[in-house]
Amino acid sequence: MTERKMLTTSNRGLLEDSFPFRLYQKAKRLGTWNPADIDFSQDAHDWKKLNTDQQEDILRLISQFQAGEEAVTLDLLPLIMAIAKEGRLEEEMFLTTFLYEEAKHTEFFRLVLNAIGEKGDLSHFHTDTYKKIFYELLPTTMERLVTDQSPAAIAEASVVYNMFVEGVLAETGYYSFYQALENARIMPGLLEGIGHLKKDESRHIGYGTFLLQRLICEHPHLFDYVAAKMTELTPLALRLNEEGIAGREVSAFGGDPALVMEFTLRQLSVRMDILARAKGKKIEEIYRFSDSELGVL
Ligand SMILES: [Fe+2]
Ligand SMILES: [Fe+2]
Repeated sequence: MTERKMLTTSNRGLLEDSFPFRLYQKAKRLGTWNPADIDFSQDAHDWKKLNTDQQEDILRLISQFQAGEEAVTLDLLPLIMAIAKEGRLEEEMFLTTFLYEEAKHTEFFRLVLNAIGEKGDLSHFHTDTYKKIFYELLPTTMERLVTDQSPAAIAEASVVYNMFVEGVLAETGYYSFYQALENARIMPGLLEGIGHLKKDESRHIGYGTFLLQRLICEHPHLFDYVAAKMTELTPLALRLNEEGIAGREVSAFGGDPALVMEFTLRQLSVRMDILARAKGKKIEEIYRFSDSELGVL
């Protein structure tokens, strides 16, 4: 074993101006909301007034988010371990807030379900494509990092977790929630939590973007690898939407499902556009990216 080199007692100290450290500071300031403090009494009231189709649409979204948050909470640890092994202290400091926030998101959706009195099994909302992503692809990609911490394995994990699950699927989910609830002016507690979630997730996606840009800068051939992975995942996002829409031309709240599909496609291309900004950049420039440049709210 090589002798450990301490960073914070060396001339290096902490890289206080680096993107991950700034993100860590932001998470400490903004990531302090408590799901248990949200008042869901109006939500419980609104829920009873919805018709069966509307309840079905909301429950599908909640059940997919609930299981999605559970999955990302359980699956993140191998990435944190890989980053810690490389001694990337500022990144790991940020990742401590990341995991804590995923735990709160898991708690949040369960509180919503409890408040509206939904205690039954919701796994019938997990379609084949949903299962492929959250029961298979995500856990196997993340678990691979336990034995393989190569740059390609870390890049693949970040593409699946940060770019695809968080950056495309979760973002599409928020869009669908707003499309249904904001126009109908119902379930304020659910919307309040979604607002917090969206901000938390923008930091998670921002970190993933930084991580991939750093990896691409250090190993330029990884850009094509990452782009190919995103292309490979694209049909899964489209199929997941189609399964949710189930041939309907209008959602139970009057929303246009085609807009949701457009949103997903836009997210897929936005993620790759942002990653492409790392091409030809020096590593110091990657560390100096501002929050807004990486889409952090
Ligand atoms: Fe989350
Ligand atoms: Fe997240």
